[in-house]
Amino acid sequence: MSLKEKIDLNRLPSHIAIIMDGNGRWAKQHGQLRVFGHRNGITAVREAAEAAAELGVKYLTLYAFSTENWNRPRVEVNALMQLLLQTINQEVTTLNKNNIRLHAIGDLDSLPPRNRKHLHKVMEETANNSRMTLTLALSYSSRWEIVEAARKLADQIQSGQCKPEEVNQQCIEKLLSTHDMPDPELLIRTSGEMRISNFMLWQIAYAELYFTPTLWPDFRRDDLYKAILDFQCRERRFGKTSEQIQNVKKQE
Ligand code: FPP
Repeated sequence: MSLKEKIDLNRLPSHIAIIMDGNGRWAKQHGQLRVFGHRNGITAVREAAEAAAELGVKYLTLYAFSTENWNRPRVEVNALMQLLLQTINQEVTTLNKNNIRLHAIGDLDSLPPRNRKHLHKVMEETANNSRMTLTLALSYSSRWEIVEAARKLADQIQSGQCKPEEVNQQCIEKLLSTHDMPDPELLIRTSGEMRISNFMLWQIAYAELYFTPTLWPDFRRDDLYKAILDFQCRERRFGKTSEQIQNVKKQE
């Protein structure tokens, strides 16, 4: 039985988020510059997106460029922006063929104008696709997103749209860049690092975390299947006791 066949399609995580890490180390292992690792990371992006869509996962979010990544050497930042531009333009046909919608979150205004323009164009061209939403987190950090939400909330309070005592979790969720998607149920980080690195801090409150030593450019369909199978073995309690969860299951 293949790994894919072992997956229970009735218990898929509806939203998987991935911190793609290890491109630089992969390049070093191959005696190449870091950019070589990023370029090879595109194959892994394609594999993860196609495998997730084929299974029936509705949302896949990839941490492609963090707010902090702007501090990398200029040559690497430029190469990443170039790669992003090239990839979204090249992949638009495949996205449409596979009925995948491209979406982006983050401080998109800080991207180079050409990237912004092409990103918006591809998002528009794939807007009606319904099989899966592939979200790229670009110039994204969770603290940036939460500060933005806090500013908007302050505006709403100042203009009388909302009273301080009416502020609840839903008010904040509506102001996050992920307001139109469910929270990730599974968060994967590659390369053996066990950190969250400022990614979806609010949204992963109850996500199952999965860390794999695989470096991102080596990530293939089977790596995604392994993560999903691991997720399906977890007991998700959401603060309740194991007995409460088991009793609900028995009643179903
Ligand atoms: C982390 O590896 C990876 C990144 C900062 C960039 C990820 C980008 C890609 C996979 C390519 C572009 C993506 C899309 C969706 C077009 P690292 O450089 O931090 O690796 P290291 O920790 O080994 O140095």
